[in-house]
Amino acid sequence: MKIGRITLSDRAVAGVYEDLSGPEIERVVRECIDPAAEFIVRLLPDEQDLIEQSLRELTDDLDCALVITTGGTGPAPRDVTPEATRAVLHKELPGFGEIMRARSYDRVPTAILSRSTAGIRGRSLILNLPGNPRSIRECLPPLSPATLECLQHIRA
Ligand code: MTE
Repeated sequence: MKIGRITLSDRAVAGVYEDLSGPEIERVVRECIDPAAEFIVRLLPDEQDLIEQSLRELTDDLDCALVITTGGTGPAPRDVTPEATRAVLHKELPGFGEIMRARSYDRVPTAILSRSTAGIRGRSLILNLPGNPRSIRECLPPLSPATLECLQHIRA
């Protein structure tokens, strides 16, 4: 399966810290979704127009079945990933974000600060994950059955 992953982080783009969440997405996807996944990788600053452009490229031009973003889902002024995602979605699937927050909350009470969403653009599923590297393994595995089922529906 062709999968786009986008890390949204002003600081990772500036080289202030290493992008640990992006590589973690690859590990968890290979364990839970597709051992043979082929990844197309993007690293962007928290700029809504650039995020929308990249989401359109990975879905419309490169036909990724799944596009996973990490970062930019919180309450800070520069956190605009959910806004960029909604702007390109044809159908929103709010249940993905609801489950991420609900499943993480007991261990990580700050999980409710993430506004992560998900949805369909054409034949692609777009999923937002929070930016903390630990959050990838906390959020993605519970979403894998619905992710696989959704892909069967949209790529049939
Ligand atoms: N969810 C999980 N499972 N684990 C986490 O460490 N961090 C929270 C939240 N969700 C976190 C989490 C925090 S502190 C924030 S501010 C938000 O995700 C948004 O993070 P982001 O802006 O990096 O996407």
